Amino acid sequence: MCPPDYFDVIYAINPWMDTSVKVNVEEAKKEWSCLVEIYKGFNIQVELLSAQKNLPDMVFSANGSFAIGDTALISSYRYKERQPEAQFHRSWFKEHGFDIQETDGITYEGEGDSLLVDQNILQGWGFRSDQAIKNVLIAAFPDYQVQMLHLIDERFYHLDTCLFPINSKLIFYYKPAFDSASIKLLNRIFTNAIAVTDKEALSFGLNSIIVGENVVLPAHAAKFAERIKSHGFHVIKAKMGEFGKSGGAVKCVTNEIW
Ligand code: ARG
Repeated sequence: MCPPDYFDVIYAINPWMDTSVKVNVEEAKKEWSCLVEIYKGFNIQVELLSAQKNLPDMVFSANGSFAIGDTALISSYRYKERQPEAQFHRSWFKEHGFDIQETDGITYEGEGDSLLVDQNILQGWGFRSDQAIKNVLIAAFPDYQVQMLHLIDERFYHLDTCLFPINSKLIFYYKPAFDSASIKLLNRIFTNAIAVTDKEALSFGLNSIIVGENVVLPAHAAKFAERIKSHGFHVIKAKMGEFGKSGGAVKCVTNEIW
């Protein structure tokens, strides 16, 4: 995770970002710190990247890399505004002894678009990551199946905004964000692929984190929270209002190292 010390909306690279909307950095810091405390309460080890001036989106650490075991694939961001972030992920993984893999120029935004569930890497492409990343993923993570999912609704520009995987059988997803072949694929892989409503998706309900039987989700995703509870999970709500101004929530600010 990376603290939101320099968090701001000074450019617009997704439809949620409006540079005329003011960000409250103090509030963002509070929201982020609460989330860190929630994770620590689950005995999750939280490692920090230090925030960098002029990189207002660096708090969205999910987008900089994707690591399984001792291998870390470093992102190659779509937009020049975020490209300098990758080096900080690279340095962290190098310092911690990971085998570093690069995308060799193929655009890729890490865990924003790569979601690991069981033996499958679900890989979103279309807005941020390129379709050609498939072969890079296969080479970097040979023990996993790479499942390509085409994103078609620009409001859901990263896979983690429109799909929340629970386990090898159950996922929640927002249908209009995917092309028809991807919807079929999801229903082939998962016996229980549950489509959520516009309201649930637009409140960033799917941008959540699961820890055992607990789901940490954005506090404003009230409807999705009810749905999650009805599946027997315990819900922990995290205020994420400031990050919503930049098009993100719980998962976006959390890079899970598998
Ligand atoms: N403003 C950031 C961007 O557009 C938000 C990233 C959100 N991250 C995510 N994993 N969906 O790149």
